[in-house]
Order: sequence, then structure tokens, then C-alpha cells
Amino acid sequence: MSSSNGSGFDTHVPLRMPHSPGVNSPARGKTISTRKRRTGYLTRLINAGPSGYAESGYYSIPCLWLCPGRRIPLKIYRMDAKGKVKIMHECNRVYAPDEKAAQGPSEGRQWVFIDKRSASELLYYLNDNLDEILSSPYLSSSEKAEFFYYMAFRRIKNAFRMPARISVADMKQIIAIMIEQIFKDPEALGEVFSLMQQNVCRAPSHPMVTFGHSLNVGILATWFVMKVLGGLKRDTLEEVSLGYFFHNIGMMRIPGKVLNKEGSLSDGPWSCLRQHPQWGYEIMTKIRGMTPEMAHIVLEHHERPDGSGYPRSLSGTDIHFFVKVCAIMDTLDALISPRVYRQPMTLLDALKFMKERTPREYDPAIFSKLILVMLDADLI
Ligand SMILES: [Fe+2]
Repeated sequence: MSSSNGSGFDTHVPLRMPHSPGVNSPARGKTISTRKRRTGYLTRLINAGPSGYAESGYYSIPCLWLCPGRRIPLKIYRMDAKGKVKIMHECNRVYAPDEKAAQGPSEGRQWVFIDKRSASELLYYLNDNLDEILSSPYLSSSEKAEFFYYMAFRRIKNAFRMPARISVADMKQIIAIMIEQIFKDPEALGEVFSLMQQNVCRAPSHPMVTFGHSLNVGILATWFVMKVLGGLKRDTLEEVSLGYFFHNIGMMRIPGKVLNKEGSLSDGPWSCLRQHPQWGYEIMTKIRGMTPEMAHIVLEHHERPDGSGYPRSLSGTDIHFFVKVCAIMDTLDALISPRVYRQPMTLLDALKFMKERTPREYDPAIFSKLILVMLDADLI
């Protein structure tokens, strides 16, 4: 069986498709993945090299990450007038407001240091204080976008690796932050789209690509649903959004050698791949607090309007609007992202590719609306 069976184009199948030349050849024009990768402070922190950023053995962090009144589970250092690094805050102490005030009126732009060996404690601290840090008036839209994107990536990665420990409340918190702090700030939203397009969080292979792709589909689909269904209740939007972020969680049961394989898949791996919606559904239904809406997005995101999808070969109106949105964003993000077996397409080429497969594989009304929304947001 060829991997072109079923939906005609499967976003996870490394097939060289003779009728889709753009997919497997170097992308024409400006590919979004080749845009210059910025090196923001969080990027530098996470990807820092062995020599440290400012001082050997230390990472530098902006003072505005230190939340007054919160316990900080690591030692904080500052540089004295002679350029020597000295301790300014002991581990596990509550960070007092006067410590922050003592750093002067421009403390938001000052930097302190942490021991490199405390990087994981720092990430735990940042994760626990995400809301507080992102609400700082000193944080620029660009910094806000980076902070949100990397911390959301981390939550997705941890959730996919340890589904038994998934906290719906934690995921809803990141969704609420996305809606309140990112979607309502056009500049921050533009920066997040830019980070998505630069593939900053993922190697082109599984599982990193699965984490990044799930995050991107979650952001894109939630943003689109919010734009077109303005009156949607917040609770419903958050639940649907959770389904989008977890749509591919079943992929974690598929061996990397299947997902990273070059060339066509044989019958065995192909049928294994097609099980991921069902496996994802099973994982979702075991998570406390998940609703049927969330689980159905996971189960049905490979169904297609013409009935060619899987696992249940649903068609037309039997596929829910929220699921159809997921299918479109799933394909779109997969096409514009690199894989070990192919180059990324440009956003415009990807949309043309999908247009040729509409209405067979994608809902025409939703696809048209997506074009309008993207034009309105100046994305195309
Ligand atoms: Fe999938």
C-alpha cells in the first residue's frame, strides 16, 4: 500500500508525490524557514554555549524575570563595580520588593547572573511564574512573544513525553496567556508567527518536530477560531484549543524510525502511522479534565470532507467545524516546515497546494476564510 492512499496527502508521510512538485523540491522564492534567526535572550539562555553569555560559568538573565514576593529557587548574582560576579540573592529566599527597587529605576533592563548548573531550576521558576513575568510593563512585545513561545513549547514537550502527568489546568493557563497577552497584542502576535516560521524550537525530525508542529497548530487554529467565532464562550475556546495542541499526541507511540524515514512507507509502518489518531484519543480520554470536544479533535483530525480520511472515513457535515479547522492548520504547518525527507514550502505555495485539494480534502468555506484572515493579518 502506498502512503498516498487515503487522504491523498498525509502531512506525516514521507512520500515523494509526483503530483505535488513543490513539496519535495527546494522551495521557490522566500521560504519562511530561511529567515534570519534572531537570538533573543531566552533563545540564548536555552541554547547557550559552553562559555556562557556574559561571564564564564554563568547565564545572564534580565532583572524583570525576578518577581517580588516570589520564592526564587536559585542563587542570583550581580556584577560589582570591579566587574566581579558577587551573590545578591540566596537560594530559596523570597525576592523582596526592596531588592528590586535597590537596582534603580531602569531595573527592567538590568541583568543579573545565575550559575549555569542552575538552568533547570531557572526553567522551573520561569514556568511557575509565567503569568507574573509576562504581565510586566517592562517586557516588550518581542520579549513577550519569545517568552511565551519557548515556555509553551516546553509545556507541550513535557506533556507529550509524560501524558500521565498532563495538567489540564497548566495547559489552560498557557492558552489563557496566549489569548490575553499574545492575541490582543498585534506586535507580539506578529513576533510569535515569526518564531513559528523560523522553526526555532525544532530539529526537522521526530520528536522535536512533533512538539513544535503541535504548538504551531495549537496557536494557528485557536487564533483562527477566535477570529471567525468572536462570540465563542471562553471555556469552549480553551477546550477546543487544548484539542488542537494535543491533536498529534498519539504520534508519541510511533517509533522515530517510522516518522523520520526517507522515501515511501511500506504497508506495516503506514498502517502504524494511521493509528495515531486512535492512540491519541485513548491517551486523551485517560487524562483527568479532558472533554469529548478535545478528544474528538484528536481522533478525527485526519478525516477529510470527501470521505478519504481516517480512521473512520467520515465525510461532509459529519466532520465538525473545529475538526476541519485542525485538519487545515495541521497540513498548512506541515507543508511550510522542513522535514528530514523534504524541504519546506513557502506559505503561498502551501496555500496554493491546499487550494488544489479543496473541497475534496479541506472545507472550502473555512479555507476561504483562512485566506481572508491571513490577508487581514498581513501574513500573505
Ligand atoms: Fe496527525
